[in-house]
Amino acid sequence: MRHARRMVVAGAGIAMAACLALGREARADVTGSFDGSLTGKKIAQPLAASAVFSQVDRGVSGTVALPGDLATFGGAYLVVGKATPKRIKVSGTGPNGARLVWKGKIVGDTLRGRAKVKLSKSKLIGTLAFTRNPAFTSDGSSCDAVYTANQTFFDDQVLGQALSVCTTCHAPGLQAAATRLHVLANDPLSTARAVSLFVDSANPSTSRILEKPLNLVPHGGGLQLDAASAEAQTLEQWVNLVAQAQCN
Ligand code: HEC
Repeated sequence: MRHARRMVVAGAGIAMAACLALGREARADVTGSFDGSLTGKKIAQPLAASAVFSQVDRGVSGTVALPGDLATFGGAYLVVGKATPKRIKVSGTGPNGARLVWKGKIVGDTLRGRAKVKLSKSKLIGTLAFTRNPAFTSDGSSCDAVYTANQTFFDDQVLGQALSVCTTCHAPGLQAAATRLHVLANDPLSTARAVSLFVDSANPSTSRILEKPLNLVPHGGGLQLDAASAEAQTLEQWVNLVAQAQCN
C-alpha cells in the first residue's frame, strides 16, 4: 500500500520534471532578439543597445547594435561566439573596424556582463545588458481588415517598395531571421500581420517599424530608410492607417 503510493508520487515527480524540461527547451538558448543598454563609469548616459542571436549547439552568431549617432563606436557589430545555458561570450567587428568583446551571464531572459569595445587607442568599457524581446501574444490578424481594404497599396508600395530592402535580412536564414519581424515579398498578408505588431497606435510616429530602419534607435541593420525618402513616407502612411484602425 505504502509502497504503491510512493511509486505514484515518484511517477508524478518524473512527469513534472519532464514538463519543466520541455517548457524550458524553447528558451534553452539565446536565439531571439533583445533590447538593452551599455552603462559604465565613463559613459555619461546609458547607451541604448539591441541584439539578435542565433544559437546552434554551443555556437552563436548574431548582431549587436549601438546607437547610430554615437561617434566612433556607434552601429552594428557582427559577432560570433559560444553560449552555454548560463554564459555567453561573443566578439566581432563594427562599422569603423572597432572590436567588441562581451561576456555575459544568462539568467532567464536576461544577459548581462562586461563589454569592451576598442578601436586603436580609444575604448568603451561597461556593462552590456540585454533582455529578450517577449514573443507577441497575438498574430496580427486583428488588423487584416486594414490590409484587405488597402491591398494594392500594401502589395505594390509598402511591401513592393518601402519594405523591399528589409527582405535582404528579415527572412529565414538571413541576418535578422531570429527577430520577430519577417518581411516576405511572396507573403504580403503574413508581412502585413507582422508589421502591424510593430505599430504603436497611441504614438504612430514612434512605432518600432519606423524607428528601427530610420536608425533612431539602435538597429542591427543600421540606417535603411532615409527620413526624407518616398519609402519612409509610404511606410509612415501605412503605420497611420494601422494606427487609425486601432486594431492591434
Ligand atoms: C542589413 C540587415 C537588415 C536590414 C536590411 C534591415 N534590418 Fe531590421 N534588423 C536587423 C537586425 C540584425 C536586427 C536585430 C537587432 C535589432 O533589434 O536592432 C533588426 C531588427 C529590426 C526590428 C526589431 C525586431 C524585433 O524583434 O523587435 C525591426 C522592427 C526592424 N529591424 C525593422 C526593419 C525594417 C522595417 C527594415 C526595412 C526598411 C529593416 N529592418 C531592414 C537587420 C536588418
